[in-house]
Formats: sequence, C-alpha cells, structure tokens
Amino acid sequence: MASERLFDLTGQVALVTGASRGLGQYFARALATAGANLILTSRRREDTAAFAAEMEALGRRVVTLDLDVRDQASIERMVAAAEAACGQIHILVNNAGCNVRKPALDVTWDDWNLVLDTNLRGSFFVAQAMARGMVKHGYGRIINIGSVTSVAGYAGLGPYGASRGGIKQLTMSLADDWGRYGITVNCLAPGWFKTAQNQVMYEDPEWVEYLVDRIPMKRPGEPRDLDGAVVFLASEESRYVTGQTLLVDGGISTGATRATVRKKT
Ligand SMILES: NC(=O)c1ccc[n+]([C@@H]2O[C@H](COP(=O)([O-])OP(=O)(O)OC[C@H]3O[C@@H](n4cnc5c(N)ncnc54)[C@H](OP(=O)(O)O)[C@@H]3O)[C@@H](O)[C@H]2O)c1
Repeated sequence: MASERLFDLTGQVALVTGASRGLGQYFARALATAGANLILTSRRREDTAAFAAEMEALGRRVVTLDLDVRDQASIERMVAAAEAACGQIHILVNNAGCNVRKPALDVTWDDWNLVLDTNLRGSFFVAQAMARGMVKHGYGRIINIGSVTSVAGYAGLGPYGASRGGIKQLTMSLADDWGRYGITVNCLAPGWFKTAQNQVMYEDPEWVEYLVDRIPMKRPGEPRDLDGAVVFLASEESRYVTGQTLLVDGGISTGATRATVRKKT
C-alpha cells in the first residue's frame, strides 16, 4: 500500500556538512521544506547563521556546529555535539568539499592532499562517525555528494575527479557494510552548478557556452534541480536503493559529444 504522503521528512533530523554556502544550502533547504529539522556544519559556524535563521523561519529546529573534515578530532567533537543536541540523526548529507582546478602537470603534492583529504578521507570519517549512531537506531540515510567527475574524465580536474571516483566506490562499499543495520548509502552526483566552487562559470562566458553545448538539457544546473533527488534518497521511500550513484547533471555524463557538424542557422 502506498504511504499517505511520500517523501515526508517531518520529525527527522538531517545533518548537512559544508552548509555555509552553495549546494550544501540547496540540499538543506530541500530537506527542511520536506519537513526535516537540520544540523548545519561549516568550519566557522557563524557562516551558517543567516541561512539557519531562514530555515528556522520555515518552522524547523536548527542546530549549527563547527566542523573541519580534515581534522579527525573535529569530526568526533561535531558528531558528539550533534547527538547530544538532537539524539537520533536520520540523514547525513556528506557535502563538504573543495577543488583545485589546474592542468595535471602543475598539480602539487599539497594540492593533491588538500582535495583528497577533504573530499574522500573527510567523507569517509564523517560517515563512519555518524554511522555508529545510526547502527544503534537501526536506521540511516547517508548521501555522499559525488560529481559528474565520478564517472567521466575532465582535463584540469585530476585530483578532484580521483576523489569523486573514490566517493562512488566508497558508496558501494559502505552500502554493503551497513545495509544489515538498516542504513542506505547512496551517492548524489550533481553536474555543473553555479557556485563559489565553479567561479569559472561566472567569469568565462565562452567556456559556459562550450559546456552548455555538451549538456543535453542545454543549461547548467539550477538549485531546484537537486531537490527531488536529495529528498528521495533521504526518505524512508528509498529503503531498497543503496550503493547507487544518481547523476543529476542534465545528461552531460552520457558523454554528449556531437557526431555531426551542426549547421549554422
Ligand atoms: N557546484 C557544482 O557544480 C558541484 C558539482 C558536483 C559536486 N559538487 C560538490 O558539492 C559540494 C558543494 O559544492 P559547492 O559548489 O557548493 O562548493 P562551495 O561553494 O565551495 O562550498 C563548499 C562547502 O564545503 C565546505 N568545506 C570546504 N572545506 C571544508 C573542510 N575542510 N571542512 C568542512 N567543510 C569544508 C565549505 O565550508 P567552509 O569553507 O565555510 O568551511 C562550503 O560550505 C562539494 O563537495 C563539491 O565538490 C559541486
């Protein structure tokens, strides 16, 4: 029998990392609109204050916490504080991340460590610390944020692509580890969205035109494009979906390369 109201998150608690700007806020807003209370993290929790007030105005309870995903002690402190404040946490959106956009020949040792430590190691240890509580409750929804680079190669994104390919693989392994505890682990992989991390989309119209030409839907992503996917993966209704990567990318991951010359009109 179908549930009375599908995808309702009322009464659930969702923790979103990297909620000081960009996609983290898009995901948090979608979850709050579906009913969830929020725990918002950022390296400086003050940076989430204005957004937290906006979410409270929707009638949600919001807790803000400091988190640096490159610091294991910070992860442990954050999860202890989150559990002390909210008890059971149903949903984790593992969104905090960074990028270094450079030709592969120019990538330094430190560039590599920054990107991999933040995006891959950080996501793993946040998931691990959160899963301990989820195991106790026999329920959890972990959503790792991947990227179109989880499945496709892009010049200038070597370390980033490696971290996102790793996230796709990590998602499958964690799904197998934790399925027996009622925890699903999926990867939501956005395409190209205009955020601080994609500064190039503000600065270089010629490149944006080139990009858009390769996107079957013929536009970059907009915040609302992610709402349905994140709420679905966060909800009870996705109970039999785990280990999967859901690309929300307007189709660019198809490889969309024209095989014919387009006539100028
Ligand atoms: N924009 C896109 O098109 C796109 C596409 C696919 C995937 N993604 C991924 O989606 C996520 C969000 O992207 P975005 O475009 O919104 O990026 P963004 O605007 O640069 O935001 C990144 C977020 O991650 C946080 N963060 C960075 N380093 C951190 C650390 N060491 N510890 C804790 N938090 C940290 C930042 O918070 P503070 O600096 O305030 O701590 C910020 O809230 C990233 O993982 C990104 O790689 C983005």
